[in-house]
Amino acid sequence: MTAGTTLTEAGERLRERGVDEPELNAQWLLAAAMGVERLRLLAEPDLPVTPAALKTFRRHLALKERGLPLAYILGWQDFRNIRLKVDRRVLVPRPETEELAGIAAGFLKGRGAEPAAMDYGAGSGAIGLSLAAEFPGLRLTALEKSPEAIACAAENALALGLETRVRFLAASALEPRGERFDLIVSNPPYIPSGVIPGLSPEVLSEPRLALDGGADGLIVARMLARNAPGRLKPGGALIMELGEAQARALLAGMPAAVWPEKKALKDFRGVERFVYAVTGRNNG
Ligand SMILES: C[S@@+](CC[C@H](N)C(=O)[O-])C[C@H]1O[C@@H](n2cnc3c(N)ncnc32)[C@H](O)[C@@H]1O
Repeated sequence: MTAGTTLTEAGERLRERGVDEPELNAQWLLAAAMGVERLRLLAEPDLPVTPAALKTFRRHLALKERGLPLAYILGWQDFRNIRLKVDRRVLVPRPETEELAGIAAGFLKGRGAEPAAMDYGAGSGAIGLSLAAEFPGLRLTALEKSPEAIACAAENALALGLETRVRFLAASALEPRGERFDLIVSNPPYIPSGVIPGLSPEVLSEPRLALDGGADGLIVARMLARNAPGRLKPGGALIMELGEAQARALLAGMPAAVWPEKKALKDFRGVERFVYAVTGRNNG
C-alpha cells in the first residue's frame, strides 16, 4: 500500500461514518503511524506504508470511526506556542481558547515584568502554561477541580520546563479573599446541562466536568464574576471564554462600579464569546 491509496480509502471510510474533516483526520493518523510529517504524505503519495505502520493506522482509524477525538488518539495537541499531552483526563484545547489566551497575553503585556495570573479550571494547563511559556516573569496559579486533570497539567508543566513557576491548587470555587492577581483567565465549563446529551460522540468522550455549566451554563462563570474582584489587583482583569450569547448575559450582571471597563469580544467566527472585564484603580 502507498500513503496515497491508504489515505483515499481511509478518508472515504471516515466520511461514510459521518466524521468531520475525514481527509485531515486520516492524514494526521497516517503521519503519526508512519512517523513522518503530515505534509510529506501529500507531497509524496507514493511513499510505501510498512505493515507495522498500517496495523497501527488501522487500529487508530477504528477509534476515530467510533468518535474518539483525534488528540486523544495521537496523545497530544498543539496550543499556540506549546505542545500539550492530552488524554481522557482533560478537555481537548480548542482554537477559540487559543484566542482567549491571546487576549490574556495582550492584557499581560501592560502589567509589568512579574505579573501574577490564575488559570481557573486549568484542565490540561493549556491557557496558563502557554502564557507562562510566553512571559518568563509570570507566576502562575493553576486551579482545577479534577485531580486527574491536575495530574495531566502537572505532567505538561514538567515536560515544558515550567514546573517551578506554576502552583497547582485543587479547589472547586474561587475564594472571595486571598492572594491577588493581575489576571484571572478561565475557560469554565459553560454548556447548559440539557444540551449535553445531544452533543457529538467526540465531545461526549471528554470529561463531563469540563463541559457541564449547569442549567444555563453559567454556574461557574457567575461565581467567578462575583468573587474575582476580591482576588484582583487594581486594574486587574477577568478574561473568560463562554458560549454564544452568554458573554453579554454575564456582563449585564457585572456592576459598572466594580468593572469600569467591561466588554464582550468576538471570536474568529464572529461569535461574541469572550468576557473582558477590568477592575477600577481603587479595587482592593
Ligand atoms: C472547559 S474545560 C477548560 C480546560 C482548559 N482550561 C482548556 O481551556 O482547555 C473546564 C475545566 O474546569 C474544570 N472545572 C469544572 N468545574 C470546576 C469548578 N467548579 N472549579 C474548578 N474547576 C472546575 C474542569 O475539570 C475542566 O478542566
